[in-house]
Amino acid sequence: MSPVSPPLSFNPAGIELDRRQGLTRQLYEALRQRVLDGRLVSGTRLPATRDLAAALSISRNSVVRAYDQLYAEGFIESRVGDGTYVAQLPTAKKLSTKVSTGLSTGLSPALSTKWANLPQDLDSEVIHSGGLAQIKTNHLPQPPAGPPRAFRVGVPAFDLFPFEVWAKLNGAFWRKPDLEQLCYGDPAGDGRLRGLIAAYLRSSRGMQCTAEQIVITSGAQQAISLCAQLLVERGDGVAVENPGYRAAGHAFALAGGKLHGVPVDGEGIDCQVLNTLQGCRVAYVTPSHQYPLGVVMSLARRLELLAWAERTGGWIIEDDYDGEYRYSGAPLSPLAALDRSGRVLYVGTFGKVAFPALRLGYLVLPVGLVDAFSRRRAVDMRHSEVSTQAVMAEFMAAGHFQRHIRRMRRAALSRRNALLNGWPSELPGVDNLPNTAAGLHLTVRVDSLAREHQLVEQARAVEVEVNGLSSYWLPDSSTPPDQRAGLVLGFAAVPEAAISQALGRLREAWAG
Ligand SMILES: Cc1ncc(COP(=O)(O)O)c(C=O)c1O
Repeated sequence: MSPVSPPLSFNPAGIELDRRQGLTRQLYEALRQRVLDGRLVSGTRLPATRDLAAALSISRNSVVRAYDQLYAEGFIESRVGDGTYVAQLPTAKKLSTKVSTGLSTGLSPALSTKWANLPQDLDSEVIHSGGLAQIKTNHLPQPPAGPPRAFRVGVPAFDLFPFEVWAKLNGAFWRKPDLEQLCYGDPAGDGRLRGLIAAYLRSSRGMQCTAEQIVITSGAQQAISLCAQLLVERGDGVAVENPGYRAAGHAFALAGGKLHGVPVDGEGIDCQVLNTLQGCRVAYVTPSHQYPLGVVMSLARRLELLAWAERTGGWIIEDDYDGEYRYSGAPLSPLAALDRSGRVLYVGTFGKVAFPALRLGYLVLPVGLVDAFSRRRAVDMRHSEVSTQAVMAEFMAAGHFQRHIRRMRRAALSRRNALLNGWPSELPGVDNLPNTAAGLHLTVRVDSLAREHQLVEQARAVEVEVNGLSSYWLPDSSTPPDQRAGLVLGFAAVPEAAISQALGRLREAWAG
């Protein structure tokens, strides 16, 4: 590149350095920022290191090191015998419009350059309709910080997990790993684990599935997200329960789906409403224990839903996230066990039996979909990490899993009873607690949104976690705001004593 003549000169007067901090770093950042925001344009000649050091009253070494870093990252270039210049970079104006998405902090030079190199007419498309814009409105909230507390939703009694058994099995795996298992593996997951999951579902849920239909995932969330990626085309309608599991809705929206919130009544998702929806390709449901209302979908409703899928060629995603927890009455057959035409994708997770951070879940797929799902998963991440799968397989094969489910069910029931028995009766504006027969949480209606907010805030003030039901609705719901109000309480996260203490604090906080 030929030198710019005469070179633009650089005035270091605006650079202020704090002498208590690293000088090299500060100088590097000051110069880098000026290049990125356009105050230093390409071709500007930088002062010789000695001159800049003198102007800023710092050592020459500090300047040399800052220049070296900028040089290594491509912000400046040196021309033999002619000094140091700002390198040829995309213009600052272009960069600054591209980073104006609200995600502009800490943008790396590499990313800036990548964006800046996009054709001009693509820019607004990329920023306004691409993944970056979508994730702004479709993301999961940060999980609550700190150890589990009453009444955190979505966590089981994982204080009861047999960690010594798990540690032993894990140690055994790593002491003598099978080298074949340490190579790249089947994207659908560990064959032995898939076989054991299929056997477990055949006996516990009456599902006629085989190992070949199982794809191991990183929790239920990834299973749902895979369904969204593979079943939803941009603009397709996706029916979701309203109120419902918002994280699933986000996955469908990110895949380009148009969400239709369908009401839930005492029998589950309202199929009359579903049947009126045009262009709906997918229905996402939680039949064994509707999230968050806790309704168990009736058999009649299950059959209606399957008939919808058959008639429209739609897919049903059945999220059986807490199906292990049933306290009375016979469990109803999952949709996947009733499905005669291969329209149901069944989602399961170990997160509610073991613990959420295990990130282990699975899909049971109609045979014709297995290859596509495995291939998609391979592109994303090849397959799940090997040891967790192998250890879970051993945990199941040795009978620990079944034992642990029984222990967890007993614990959850006892913790549910502690909540029901100690709940303050006759709270103004709050319905009676339902006698929930399944799952790890319960939901109680409240007569107004203002009252919901008040109760949630007062609970927070005494360090008790209570979720507002209103946050589970789609934002554009037609249901009047006060009818969306309620409280969602997870009852399994902490032992009975902690539940009683929390209830004591709640009684005081809510009394005034
Ligand atoms: C309805 C529902 N589905 C799925 C999940 C997520 O499960 P996982 O942790 O396995 O991703 C949750 C978590 O609370 C849930 O409530």
